Amino acid sequence: MTQTLITAALPYVNSFLHLGHLAGAYLPADMYSRFLRLSGRKVLFVCGSDEHGVAITISADKEHTTPDKIIDKYHFANKLAFERFGMSFDIFSRTSLPEHAETAQEFFLDWLKKGLLVEKEENQFYDEEAQMFLPDRYVEGTCPNCGNERARGDQCDNCSANYNQTDLLNPKSVVSGKTPVVRSTKHWYFKMGDFQERLEHYIESNATQWKDNVLQQSRSWLKQGLADRAATRDMTWGIPVPIEGAKGKVIYVWFEAVLGYISATKEWANLHNSPEEWKQWWQNPDTEYIAFLGKDNIVFHTLIFPMLLMAKENYILPTNVPANEFMNFEGKKFSKSMNWGIFLHDFQRDFPGAGQTDALRYTIAMNLPETKDSDFTWQDLQARNNNELAAIFGNFVNRVVQFLHKNFDEKVPALPERFAKLTDAWKLLLEDFSREESREQAQEKYENKHLRYFSPNDVALIAAIHFGAKKAAEHYSRFRFRDAVSETMNIARAANKYFNDTAPWKTVKSDHDECAKTLYICSQTIGALSVLFAPILPNTCTTLSQMIGVQPETGEPNSELIDRWSKAAFPAIAEQTPLASPEVLFTKIEDSTIAEQVSKMGATTQTTAEIKAEPSEMITIDDFKKIKLRTALVISAERVPKSEKLLKLQVTLGNETRQILAGIAKFYTPEEMVGKTVIVVANLQPAKLMGMESQGMLLAANTPEGTLALVTPESIVGAGAEVR
Ligand code: 2FM
Ligand code: ZN
Repeated sequence: MTQTLITAALPYVNSFLHLGHLAGAYLPADMYSRFLRLSGRKVLFVCGSDEHGVAITISADKEHTTPDKIIDKYHFANKLAFERFGMSFDIFSRTSLPEHAETAQEFFLDWLKKGLLVEKEENQFYDEEAQMFLPDRYVEGTCPNCGNERARGDQCDNCSANYNQTDLLNPKSVVSGKTPVVRSTKHWYFKMGDFQERLEHYIESNATQWKDNVLQQSRSWLKQGLADRAATRDMTWGIPVPIEGAKGKVIYVWFEAVLGYISATKEWANLHNSPEEWKQWWQNPDTEYIAFLGKDNIVFHTLIFPMLLMAKENYILPTNVPANEFMNFEGKKFSKSMNWGIFLHDFQRDFPGAGQTDALRYTIAMNLPETKDSDFTWQDLQARNNNELAAIFGNFVNRVVQFLHKNFDEKVPALPERFAKLTDAWKLLLEDFSREESREQAQEKYENKHLRYFSPNDVALIAAIHFGAKKAAEHYSRFRFRDAVSETMNIARAANKYFNDTAPWKTVKSDHDECAKTLYICSQTIGALSVLFAPILPNTCTTLSQMIGVQPETGEPNSELIDRWSKAAFPAIAEQTPLASPEVLFTKIEDSTIAEQVSKMGATTQTTAEIKAEPSEMITIDDFKKIKLRTALVISAERVPKSEKLLKLQVTLGNETRQILAGIAKFYTPEEMVGKTVIVVANLQPAKLMGMESQGMLLAANTPEGTLALVTPESIVGAGAEVR
């Protein structure tokens, strides 16, 4: 295996990225890619937007726009947020490109030719009101496996079960809210059963290497027996089924999105003017292929994708699928509708610095849900930033750089005559270390051997770097990223201890040669840390390298294939290298900053203290029932002359149109309002405002920022629906 292909699940472009996405797949994939590149390995890191499927069309419906507008909006926003987060993709593509459709259709026709697709008329849910079949997430109901009442037609988010949608209990159309009927429709079913044995063999042959969660889910699918699975859907948004008589049918998103990794590689090859080069990755037995993803994507990468690749022949299969569990936010699952969680672009707006981005990377890395669900909290971000990054790593760098500026003419010290052969001795010391298993043993054995050049403190620090780098590498290779990060921080701890123990502020007066040597070793340690921290803190390491006058090496795409990792403990910075002006790598995060973020969390939970009512103020359910709440669709909107606050809206309640004057003009433009479904109090006595009649009232919530957010139904319910 001479090269590594790395993919990170293609995120659906129906919403912005949040921190849970980063923890599930993207940060570990990026750390792994950077680590391998820094180890001199040839890497191709591929990702892109997943732009088809019901996830996208439902979002388009919700935002009252078209799927192509949705995909552009989120694709470019996510691409930018990823870039600012420091993702080192070789390519970030998108599945709406015509080249991807070509790839997917080529695979489809190949399955057909090989007799792997069977045409069948089968029952599917159909929404009579909306006059459409209801693929996948267009229908919701109770999970037949765990009883979760908000399960989707294709998958249950609670227990990760996959099932045929007609197995869903108590189904409801997401479009009309009505119970769908069952109708028959023609589809092409992939004969997954034909691959049962081969897939069993594939999974079991990897069993010693793969994570338990990944094996368990894959085995449980195989145990149930692989049934024929529809490879097409009744939709217009997607990749058309490339055969006659298949109008209105597209390839099922999961059967084409995974092929998006291949299309993205083709795009990368084209951009490099080497159109055939993608084959050297996907059709090359020397490629090791690692697929990163969150737990809801496991079987699609351990069974479905391998099956499609097996069917096509000549393609490599994933070597490992190190899927993560979920990372929660402050003890609860991320939820867009509950405003619970942090979107990446919001974080980037509030914490725009390079050090702050890296503090986020570090905090997520320390909390990766590698074996079980984990939790992200604002307090932890503050503590990790202030007590670890700033107080340990940043502090060491700062002390060294300040000292060099003050006492060594803003340069890496020249080695005094007495230590002229230090780098040769260093080499021998590392050779000695390479014969030892543990740091403790090595340190004990050699701290007296090299005394002419190295004090026991020097030996201890060089051992910490050498063995720390080695251990971190082992952890990376086994996808134990949390351990890799802890190991790296331990090197920074050892460096800080070294500065304390060698007390250069004393030797600068008492033994200048010794002081120069100490600072020479400290400078080399900064060089080592700029490599070893690069997978976790690439932005900081770039700044750091510039500060000490060396070319940044952070495992970016197209890096030279040089193994910098295993040589990190060896001096790499020339004597007398001039330093750039010192910069603070990590600024402290104040309590007030955290308090402000905490106050924005889940607006719903904030006012609970204020809504305790006196018994006399309580209302009965019958009182509440007197209020007739209905959904209404805004059909037109205009400003009210001479009023800053009011918009004049025409809304339809299904069978009647009303005029409503709403005090929302400061927060919504008339253009934004048209097409929105809102909740209105329908039996409010009409009132006159600015000489015009208002026949109802809209519901809106106060946001923590002091603005208003309209209350809208979470899924599409149509106008005039009763709200209770
Ligand atoms: O869960 C998701 O966001 C999917 N869009 C992941 C797809 S991964 C692969 F198929 F591209
Ligand atoms: Zn379930």
